[in-house]
Amino acid sequence: MVEKGILGCFILCLSLTSVCAVRGTLSSIKDLKGIEFGHTFPRHGLMLLHWLANNIYIDNNGNMRLNFNPTRGDYGFHFYGNRPPSLPILHPESGSYYSLGNMNSNGSWALPDYVTQRFYNSRGPENNRDRVILRVREDGSNQFIVDEVYVTQHYQQNENRGSAYDPANTYRVNVSLLRQIQRLATIDQNDIPRIYNVEINHNSLQDLENIWGHTPGMALLLAIVLSLTLPKLKGRCARAVETQSVMEDKDNTLIKLEVKTTDRGKARIIWSGIPKRLLDQRVMVVLHRDNNSDSKSELDRSSVGGKASGSYNTSVPLNPGLQVRLHKEVKKWWNYFWFGSTIGEEIWRGSEFHDANREIPVDINGHDASLQLFVKDGKACARLYVKKSFTAWKKTFHNSWVGFYSSLNKSMLNYNTWKWAVSFSKEIRSDLEDVPEHDVYVYYSSMVMSPGVQARFMLQRRSSEVARTLPWERVELSATRPYHREGES
Ligand SMILES: *[C@@H]1O[C@H](CO)[C@@H](O)[C@H](O)[C@H]1NC(C)=O
Ligand SMILES: *[C@@H]1O[C@H](CO)[C@@H](O)[C@H](O)[C@H]1NC(C)=O
Ligand SMILES: *[C@@H]1O[C@H](CO)[C@@H](O)[C@H](O)[C@H]1NC(C)=O
Ligand SMILES: *[C@@H]1O[C@H](CO)[C@@H](O)[C@H](O)[C@H]1NC(C)=O
Ligand SMILES: *[C@@H]1O[C@H](CO)[C@@H](O)[C@H](O)[C@H]1NC(C)=O
Repeated sequence: MVEKGILGCFILCLSLTSVCAVRGTLSSIKDLKGIEFGHTFPRHGLMLLHWLANNIYIDNNGNMRLNFNPTRGDYGFHFYGNRPPSLPILHPESGSYYSLGNMNSNGSWALPDYVTQRFYNSRGPENNRDRVILRVREDGSNQFIVDEVYVTQHYQQNENRGSAYDPANTYRVNVSLLRQIQRLATIDQNDIPRIYNVEINHNSLQDLENIWGHTPGMALLLAIVLSLTLPKLKGRCARAVETQSVMEDKDNTLIKLEVKTTDRGKARIIWSGIPKRLLDQRVMVVLHRDNNSDSKSELDRSSVGGKASGSYNTSVPLNPGLQVRLHKEVKKWWNYFWFGSTIGEEIWRGSEFHDANREIPVDINGHDASLQLFVKDGKACARLYVKKSFTAWKKTFHNSWVGFYSSLNKSMLNYNTWKWAVSFSKEIRSDLEDVPEHDVYVYYSSMVMSPGVQARFMLQRRSSEVARTLPWERVELSATRPYHREGES
């Protein structure tokens, strides 16, 4: 009896914790009103939520699945344990929490530009506060089931509360909110007032469309959330929010700066959307090792030559992290002779270079392992992610090899180079602590990276292909995967 009483009390406390830990549930876009999450520039929460909604599969019964692997660190997801302070405690068999949105994690490179753009073009801690947390469990067949979705945020830096998430700003997300966000991509704008009971300011929507129009549904999400929020604020304050979040330097956000691959493994700069105002002043594209390199340590540069869009092939070997920045060009004169240009004020930054869609590892069929293609110093490289529970992998993969092909239509023996799987070397990297369930093995090949390169995994010497990566940079995939069509199963 006594024991039962204690147990009962224990369960009561547990469920109280579950209730108290989260501030409430968001079931509709309307509920995003009034909460802080992602509202103001440069916060990225609404982009994270939009990305998640469009990359999660929801069946008719509201069950949610992922087509990627958060335990491997895909998209920068990282393990957040079973007993975090701001969320209900989980029994290990009911899964674990994984957190998305830390833009300093390596995996976040794979998120599309629309999620990362604000982060590269703003300063200070506000641009990295928002997080989406999933409660994830693996079913028997390498599928990831999502039981709960939460949005949360770090404390403000001046609150001195460390790196925990703020429970007072942690909300459960009902699947119906995710469905509503999915539908925004195809909804008729004239239906918005009826469905969401809001009037959208068409000028603001047009501004938002100019910036976010390439991501279906994103502009509408912002328009609805902000038009719900703005009327509550009065006068100057409302205008301040508006300038911060809606206007967001309209002109510059159209600028696109990208690094691509030449057919010789070198970085190729592509730019577009440079406004005339800037072209008239003369601007240049400048290549940097990564976002942290200071403005003096450029790797290469080129004037844009008055062209709003164009490209420039550098002689810099391709590496993850490369970044293009747009700078004003300052001409140097000496006694009326022009003798070169120097770099002036920085105007805009692209995201760090990653071939995101290629860098999400592909499953090796029938085994707890996956294969990833990436680039280092202009060469094609591969990683094997092996689940730690797959202890017999060296025996199973004894005769297995990874081939590197110049294009997807090369036959099996038409590889450029290859390597035994068991000869890959174990990779030691500090951020691999974020993927505690996997060991990572790597091979740096001598094959020059170029568009179309592909890695394949062969189980046996002469047969049994069990995995192939997407060809490097070849197919233009859309920023979001079309995974949300309803009625699919
Ligand atoms: C990029 O660099 C700027 C300036 O150094 C910094 O404020 C910002 O946080 C950096 N962003 C990333 C993604 O590292
Ligand atoms: C989610 O919302 C639906 C209605 O849209 C409701 O029936 C359901 O109980 C909610 N689920 C949770 C976990 O709150
Ligand atoms: C730049 O590289 C691309 C891709 O390899 C190639 O198609 C193009 O011809 C190159 N341009 C120049 C000017 O070399
Ligand atoms: C194979 O790929 C190359 C380049 O990727 C292309 O030029 C060629 O036409 C393709 N051949 C076939 C049969 O598809
Ligand atoms: C990110 O990856 C690079 C290269 O793969 C590695 O050198 C670096 O340590 C990683 N970042 C962190 C935070 O571990």
